[in-house]
Amino acid sequence: MKALKRTIAAAAGLAMMAGLAACGGGRTGTSSTSGEKVEKGATIGISMPTKSEERWNKDGNGLKKDLEAKGYKVILSFADDKPAQQNADIENMVNNSAKIVVVAAKDGTAVGPAVEKAKDAGAKVIAYDRLIMNTEAVDYYATFQLEQTGVLEANYIIDKLGLKDGKKGPFNIELFSGSPDDNNAKFFFKGAWDLLQPYFKSGVLVSPSKHGGGVTAKSTVESTWQKISVMSWKAEQAQKDMESILDSTYAHGEKLNAVLSPYDGISQGVINAIQSKRPDMKPGTDSWPVITGQDAMEIAITNINAGTQAQTVFKDVNKLAKAVEEMIIQIAEGKEVTGADKTYNNGTKDVKSKLLDPVSITKDNLTDLVTAGYVTQARFDQLTK
Ligand code: BGC
Repeated sequence: MKALKRTIAAAAGLAMMAGLAACGGGRTGTSSTSGEKVEKGATIGISMPTKSEERWNKDGNGLKKDLEAKGYKVILSFADDKPAQQNADIENMVNNSAKIVVVAAKDGTAVGPAVEKAKDAGAKVIAYDRLIMNTEAVDYYATFQLEQTGVLEANYIIDKLGLKDGKKGPFNIELFSGSPDDNNAKFFFKGAWDLLQPYFKSGVLVSPSKHGGGVTAKSTVESTWQKISVMSWKAEQAQKDMESILDSTYAHGEKLNAVLSPYDGISQGVINAIQSKRPDMKPGTDSWPVITGQDAMEIAITNINAGTQAQTVFKDVNKLAKAVEEMIIQIAEGKEVTGADKTYNNGTKDVKSKLLDPVSITKDNLTDLVTAGYVTQARFDQLTK
């Protein structure tokens, strides 16, 4: 039933995307050439998807602080994971004459009409971390190498299960992807699936549950990523999904070797489910599955230290904020934007993109988060005691 609902939702999403692509296709908006200066003290809008996930607070507040220190006025909004709220937030920025609008989209497609209004009002639009889809109205994109997140997660699992050393298993793995309305989620899964699929083909990895209709050697990224997704990256949803996986497939002591999780919140949901349904699985022993994650959230620091989560992908949002700040200053000074030398296609255009490198974090290098200034030593000590 859930699979059916997801298929319907995915189909509706596609129809919506096609519709928007069709009406967005003819738009040109303001050109993104350099030379148009933004006066000192001008307003810059920053639209974040939600306050309820740790990273967007860091991203939004960090960027705001940096820009204010450079003399800009900043309107910072959080959209409570609601696309309509985000569009209203962006309209409010436009009404307050924002000259540059920075958007981390809740729903990459649904935000299109709002950024088109911003472009029509003469603002520049920067897609922050998540690409804005199916519209001309995005000038630049800054994010971390998207597939690399999945690569780091999958490689960790491959390494831990000894697959490169020729271990034959078969090993049981369950797979999750991120939010179906977030373009990033597809790339994260692609990075991981490209590495895991060969082991499905050789029968070394199997996914015995029918989660998302079942993941098999024949699954493709396109056919699979939205079926195993977790709407809005919610821990509660991941927990429910993992509980049904455990009930249907692992209720009689069956071994679970690994869980591909694309985000620390989802990992937490998975951990909760295992702890409630399979108390015989003990962290720190072979009975506990290898669980990945992303974001180096505080909860992940605690979980990695405790051995419930094995790995996370650290994306230093301070560096992302700096990269975007640099773009903003270059745009404001009418200079050429440098470093945006890659492109991502958003369904309508190739968007010039600046890409940073994510880093794999495990118990062995957990303190790198302190060294990077991502968490203070005092907080780290609290989280790991
Ligand atoms: C971001 C990830 C984050 C996820 C959930 C993605 O778009 O790139 O860093 O874990 O959203 O917030």
